[in-house]
Order: sequence, then structure tokens, then C-alpha cells
Amino acid sequence: MSKTYKIAVIPGDGTGPEVIAEGIKVLNSVSQRYGFKLDLAFFDFGGEKYLKTGELLPENIFDDLRKSDAIYLGAIGHPDVKPGILEKGILLRMRFELDQYINLRPVKLFPGVDCPLKDKGPEDIDFVVIRENTEGLYTGAGGFLKKGTSDEIATQLSINTRKGIERCVRYAFEYTKKRNKAKKLTLCGKTNVLTYAFDLWERTFYEVAREYPDIKTDYSHVDAITMWFVKNPEWFDVVVTDNLFGDIITDLGAMIQGGLGIAAGGNINPEGVSMFEPIGGSAPKYRGKNIINPLAAICAGGMMLEHLGEKTAADAIEKSVVELTSNRIKSLAAGKMGYSTTEIGDMVAEMVAR
Ligand code: IPM
Ligand code: MN
Repeated sequence: MSKTYKIAVIPGDGTGPEVIAEGIKVLNSVSQRYGFKLDLAFFDFGGEKYLKTGELLPENIFDDLRKSDAIYLGAIGHPDVKPGILEKGILLRMRFELDQYINLRPVKLFPGVDCPLKDKGPEDIDFVVIRENTEGLYTGAGGFLKKGTSDEIATQLSINTRKGIERCVRYAFEYTKKRNKAKKLTLCGKTNVLTYAFDLWERTFYEVAREYPDIKTDYSHVDAITMWFVKNPEWFDVVVTDNLFGDIITDLGAMIQGGLGIAAGGNINPEGVSMFEPIGGSAPKYRGKNIINPLAAICAGGMMLEHLGEKTAADAIEKSVVELTSNRIKSLAAGKMGYSTTEIGDMVAEMVAR
């Protein structure tokens, strides 16, 4: 009997449903070809639903999500909802409740893709950022005092626990070992100013490093790493960092790999249920036009399959994407690909079935 994976699908807002539809096209095709089944359960929530009903997440949603093997997410975000509500109420809530403590973001320039960096090619840009995903400045710790007065105080605390750092750092060492490329792990921090938080990060990093004598370790301040990503991206193999720094440097990473049209990520709980998404957001201005690039969602689907253990199928997706970027599509930008959203999905679905 062939294996069946239960996938919770959250198409979400904006162009989310369009790109997820193409991703599913590809996943269905590749699963047939490689002999496994996907049992998809759709969940309708996001900004659109919130505006209509006032509900952020359906009741018992976490019971349902915990029963799945993985979650496939489009995008959450709506221009008419005040910033912070959907982010905290939906996206971050899912990451926290499901304890998805790793945010895994590959930065890889595919052949044929226009790179904004002069003289850099696919051999130079191929690294992975491992972002801590449940702590740091994202926990919501802090608050207002004397709000609305001229004496107002706002605090936002960065929470860094030994356990939280250690599990992330361990994951990063293991990942670097398995990736087996340059076997180099860079800690990205700010030890010269954030002398408590990154002192703990640094001590933990070098303590765990002792268990991995084959992995080269390196350190970069976060401000400096933004320079090196642009000047010498080939220096990086795997980078590990805290939540906010990871958020910032992976947007830069997405740009040097050719843009949000191709950037995918995973919110991983190695012991639980993980969630995979294109990192570009809901792109409301492109919604419903059939011009958004679905490759990021398709690549996120590939990451999901690799995570589920279907490495051959995941490789088939990547190979097809490479074939497309090398020989067929003109640009990764919405509306400039030379094909529509659905045509790209059709092409990849056809290629992975070969
Ligand atoms: C991301 C996004 C989120 C984050 C937002 C939408 C809360 O930017 O996944 O990188 O900051 O983590
Ligand atoms: Mn971000």
C-alpha cells in the first residue's frame, strides 16, 4: 500500500489561494509519479475571513492541525486590517502553538535567474538561514506604561532562553552536517551591543560546536552580514540567528536569489507538525490577475515533501524549477514571466510527471 500524508492546506489571503492551487497541482502530479498519496484538508481563515466574521482562528484548529503530517500555507495578510492583528493572531500564534522553533530559509540562485549582484552566479549564492522562530523580540513580552501621555513608555523585550537557543543551535549543526557542503556554520548576532542576549547565544553556540569537530564555525555581526551577503555570498553555507535578525536577513536573502517570486521557507518543529510557505506574503495588488509567480509556493511544496521524507519527489520539483528558470521563463517578477500563474503550474506539473 502506498503511503498517505495528511496535509492541512491554508490558502489564506491575497494571491495565497492562486499560488497554493498551482503548488497543489504540482504536488498531486509528483505524488502520482512517485507513488504516495496526499490527503488534503482545506482550512479557510485569514484577513478576509477576519473582516467578515471577526474570527481569527477557528475553534479547535490546533487539534486539527496537530493531526496532520504537515501544513501548506499560502499567505496571511490584508491591507484593511491594522498591522499586528493577523500577524500575532494567526501566523505567529501558529508558530508558537505548534512550537515550530526553526524557520528554515534556503537562499539559492537558480540558473537563468537575474541576480541583482554583479558578477555573482548560482555557484556563489547557495546557503541556508536557520532562524530561531519562537523567541527573541517576537514573544510579545513588554508593554505600555502611561499610554497616550507625554510620559509614555513602551518596552519590547527580547526573550532568549538557554533551552530555546540550544535546540535551535543544535538543529543548525545537525543541518550543516547533513547538508554536507562547506560544513561551515555562521552565527549571526550582535555581541558588541546586545551583550546579554548574544552572550548567551555565543556561549551556547561554541559549547554545542565542541560536539561537531568537523563543522567549521564562524561569527558575524548582523549589520556586517548584510554587507557580506551582498559582497561575498559565496562565504556562506549555513547561518543561524535569532528571530528578528533572521526575519531581516532572509528578506535580503530572498532578493539576492532573485526575489520573492522564488523564496520559500519552512516553519519547523522537528518533533511535531511543520508548516511550509512561500515567504512573499499576500501581494494584494496582484490578486486575481493570474500573473503572480507560483514558483515560491511550488518550492515550498518541495521543501514539505523533503521534510516528509519524499526526497526523490522533492528533487524532481527542484529539477523542474531549474529547467524552467534556465530555459523557459523570462523573469521571476509578477506579470513579466512570459507565462501566467496557471501556465507555470501546468508546466511544472507536467515536468515532474515525466
Ligand atoms: C516572515 C514575516 C512574518 C515575520 C510577519 C508577517 C509576522 O515577515 O515570515 O518573515 O516577521 O516573521
Ligand atoms: Mn519577514
